[in-house]
Amino acid sequence: MPTPVIIDCDPGHDDVFAIWLAAANPEIDLRAITSVAGNGRIEHTTLNARIACTVAGIHGVPIARGAAEPLAQELEPAEWIHGANALGGPELPEPTVPLDERDAVQLIRDVLTESDRPVVVIATGPLTNIAHVVQRHPEVLAKIDRVVWMGGSTGRGNVSAYAEFNAWTDPESIQVVLDSGVAFTMVGLNISHQALITPQVRARVRAAGNRTGSFGYELLEFFCSTYNTFEGMPDGPLHDPITVAMVIDPAVATTVETRMDVELKGTETRGATCVDLLNITKRPKNATVALDLDVERFWSLIEAAVRALD
Ligand code: RIB
Ligand code: CA
Repeated sequence: MPTPVIIDCDPGHDDVFAIWLAAANPEIDLRAITSVAGNGRIEHTTLNARIACTVAGIHGVPIARGAAEPLAQELEPAEWIHGANALGGPELPEPTVPLDERDAVQLIRDVLTESDRPVVVIATGPLTNIAHVVQRHPEVLAKIDRVVWMGGSTGRGNVSAYAEFNAWTDPESIQVVLDSGVAFTMVGLNISHQALITPQVRARVRAAGNRTGSFGYELLEFFCSTYNTFEGMPDGPLHDPITVAMVIDPAVATTVETRMDVELKGTETRGATCVDLLNITKRPKNATVALDLDVERFWSLIEAAVRALD
């Protein structure tokens, strides 16, 4: 039986592939897509979620607009990687997929309430919306099977020495979600940097021969060019879809049950995800952390999804 899933995202090039993988793979029952400010301002990430579905022919999945600002600081979009519209590269079509009249928190609450079984919440941007659900609707938390979040790192960051972008953008939201007691999986840079978009991968996406493949190829070309310019990585990492792949096939990544905390105060370390892999703190374990990726299995899932869409 397919796993019910909500995707909360900030499209964003890699977020688009997470949406496509969730919509195309038969192991997933994609119940809703919600946008959050992160890679871009909320008007861009919301529009881009609708465009991602329009290009791929994904219909019938409600899309709702989420938080425009993090819980406790001003938004600083990742325009250097994703572009001014958060989806640089291809010419963007007018969306044909409508925007739900509810906001993200209302849609998430309704999907959880109406679901006949617990729902996996996949978050591929800052955790702002999920934190709002925890704070405003504690009555629905029992219907969250787990939160699977692309963010953080067991090691170094990508926007400061120790903070990854999604964590850096809204560290308070991580603390709210961790404190809620909802089962939590962190998919950090330590594993996402194993999902490198090589020229061979880009060719496999384009070889799908459909609109999704050609649009996706242009997205990957842009994403790799900016990663090369700003991070010295010509084969950029496709971070976000790993979360979806782990729901589809748990064997695609190894994981460890461990302790993680988020730094909220450090002058140099605010937003760092402090993952105690050696259990030095002896604190209660509170997270499942992804470690190693079955790279070919991952790319095969991506390739199959692109081929299955329009
Ligand atoms: O640091 C990588 C993460 O930040 C990814 O989710 C990417 O889309 C950006 O949101
Ligand atoms: Ca993202």
